[in-house]
Amino acid sequence: MNILVTGGAGFIGSHTLVELYAAGHTAVVVDNLCNSSAESLRRVAKIVNVSEIPFVKGDIRDRDTLNALFSEYTFDACIHFAGLKAVSESVVKPWEYYDNNMSGTLTLLDVMRQHGCKNIIFSSSATVYGDPAVIPITEKCPKGQCSNPYGWTKSMLEQVMMDMQRADNEWNVVLLRYFNPIGAHPSGTIGEDPNGIPNNLMPYITQVAVGKRPELGVFGNDYDTPDGTGVRDYIHVVDLARGHVAALRKVEQGSGLSIYNLGTGRGYSVLDVVHAFEKATGVKVPYSIKPRRLGDIATCYSNPQKAHDELGWTAQYDIEDMCRDSWRWQSQNPDGYRK
Ligand code: NAD
Ligand code: UFG
Repeated sequence: MNILVTGGAGFIGSHTLVELYAAGHTAVVVDNLCNSSAESLRRVAKIVNVSEIPFVKGDIRDRDTLNALFSEYTFDACIHFAGLKAVSESVVKPWEYYDNNMSGTLTLLDVMRQHGCKNIIFSSSATVYGDPAVIPITEKCPKGQCSNPYGWTKSMLEQVMMDMQRADNEWNVVLLRYFNPIGAHPSGTIGEDPNGIPNNLMPYITQVAVGKRPELGVFGNDYDTPDGTGVRDYIHVVDLARGHVAALRKVEQGSGLSIYNLGTGRGYSVLDVVHAFEKATGVKVPYSIKPRRLGDIATCYSNPQKAHDELGWTAQYDIEDMCRDSWRWQSQNPDGYRK
């Protein structure tokens, strides 16, 4: 299939491109590079052994850019990663998040249907469950109150796509609710490259390990969890990427609306991850306990059975693989894609 990949220069998008090409698909990327670098696409091309990944630098809110893309290429489906994703930034810049994520996706969906491409895989998030009513979280778990505008954009966009699919059953919509993607391609040439101070746990740990930051702050050790620190379902980004290839097979069958959790089904605390990192890499990670971070919940991990049963997909990598691969990327590229 020929796939439009929005946000393909980013962390999850670049890894998904590798798996798409490995599965025999081709792709065209549209990305405005607001949180990424075109260098990631050059490195993806090297990994998959093609001269280049077709790329248009543009914003998905720009209808003309999207129309031009759909006029130039025929797409069988779109994998839609493009979006802003920093939870705390979304609290201080709600309009920017609603504009980018909502307007961007609404424009994309409209242009897609006008060009007769009605297959979409959407990057959603475990954040739509809010403080989950059931653990491990199945897709039947009711959606919850999101604690930030970023989360609301995911929750509302899911609703938009569900309603559009209900009104027009030519649409095939797969909503993938990611848990916590970490790790990097085993080559160590592509990985997560956050701007400024990392918000997420693993990039913070790797920056401490590489000597860019003095210590990790652990946000709270008084949660109702085995060691008091927050528990999450970390998933290797290569496994997550392969989940998209599996979802494409579903779309090809004319699946209508489908929703899947992509996680491992295992929860690790912050201190578990610190210790797993130290064990996998031999590098010490100094840390100190800090107050809880606003909006955090105690425990969030998936039941990934539905994706296993219906997509034939299961995460293969364990926490040690994730730590080892995150570290290989960070240690080989201390400044990310910036040389
Ligand atoms: P990322 O920031 O690395 O990638 C997103 C890409 O989209 C970037 O390359 C950015 O430049 C691009 N982009 C943003 N707005 C755009 C616009 N208006 N037009 C064109 N391009 C635009 O983030 P990621 O971690 O790869 O996440 C990909 C998707 O998965 C996002 O939608 C994110 O919300 C979602 N998600 C991520 C996580 C996570 O922890 N990383 C968890 C759940 C869901
Ligand atoms: N944490 C620390 N110190 C840090 C960073 C994080 O202790 O410097 C802790 C957090 O308090 C939490 C755990 O590490 O307990 C994981 O935090 P992350 O920020 O890495 O991930 P979150 O679970 O908060 O959120 C991430 C993405 C969201 C996405 C969600 C899906 O940031 O976009 O996973 O589960 F929606």
